[in-house]
Amino acid sequence: MTDYKILAEQIMELAKEDPYYLPLLSNTSALIMETLPDLNWSGFYLVKDGRLVLGPFQGKVACIHIGIGDGVCGTAVKTDKVLRVEDVHKFPGHIACDSASSSEIVLPIHRTDASGNRGTAAVLDIDSPLTGRFSEDDEAGLAKIVKILEETIQW
Ligand code: SME
Repeated sequence: MTDYKILAEQIMELAKEDPYYLPLLSNTSALIMETLPDLNWSGFYLVKDGRLVLGPFQGKVACIHIGIGDGVCGTAVKTDKVLRVEDVHKFPGHIACDSASSSEIVLPIHRTDASGNRGTAAVLDIDSPLTGRFSEDDEAGLAKIVKILEETIQW
């Protein structure tokens, strides 16, 4: 089982060293990839100009743009919900960037702007070649990591 407490501490240390989104999200995707077993993709899509654009990631070359409401990532943004998909082949509209992916978890990352408006700035997207790879414990652990990012990141 993944020790999310240690992972969270490592991400807090990275954020302390430099909270700028590029190094922080880059190293977070790398840490997730090397810490969680059975993954084939770990990374971020950023909300930009009314759609999602590919951000820092580890894994195979991925689709660059995703519309809000499209695929698992776009649906997570549209509904503002964490999506834990047991079998991506059964998810209507799933975007298969890597044909090896069988299950996926996507968590929205929020940002509050200078005027106090809260919106979704990005999503954390993690894929696995195993069906049903992500448990409730994974979701809870990853939600803590997202919270750390939301509280520390400098966009
Ligand atoms: N499967 C995602 C697309 C991104 S890749 O997994 C990296 C989706 O359906 O939104």
